[in-house]
Amino acid sequence: MNIIDVLIQQHRDAEALFEAYRAAPDEEKPELCVRLAEALTLHSTIEERWVYPVARSVVEGPRIDFAVEEHGEMSQLISELLHARREPRRREATVRQLEAVAAHHMAEEEREVFPRLREMASEAFGPSSSEIVRTASDARREAMRRLDAPAAP
Ligand SMILES: [Fe+2]
Ligand SMILES: [Fe+2]
Repeated sequence: MNIIDVLIQQHRDAEALFEAYRAAPDEEKPELCVRLAEALTLHSTIEERWVYPVARSVVEGPRIDFAVEEHGEMSQLISELLHARREPRRREATVRQLEAVAAHHMAEEEREVFPRLREMASEAFGPSSSEIVRTASDARREAMRRLDAPAAP
């Protein structure tokens, strides 16, 4: 599978996770927060390391800079969500914010970025998509530790 198809599938998986979160009983929500955090962190890592650099050569204007800023915003919300996952009110507010930012971001990528990349040869992105996913999964463990670390005093 081309890496762009993998990313689009991950967008659908993220939407399904937000939906599962809404439907889940309270006691399952903290664990779903962790799964959402993992899925979105893996996804952003792949885009930032392997896909956005290529996108910069074919997408004009500041689109990719905005996308990187939105990833930063999502990272902050993910960190907040991990810290708030056992406090229902804070958690609900944060999930709602994260879902809004993610939905907007994913729609824009699919409209303005991915169509330009879809037809490119897989080699343009460097390693094979399965290798990219494997390397990014290792990086995610480190990223999750950072996002879930207690706030500095
Ligand atoms: Fe993205
Ligand atoms: Fe994306």
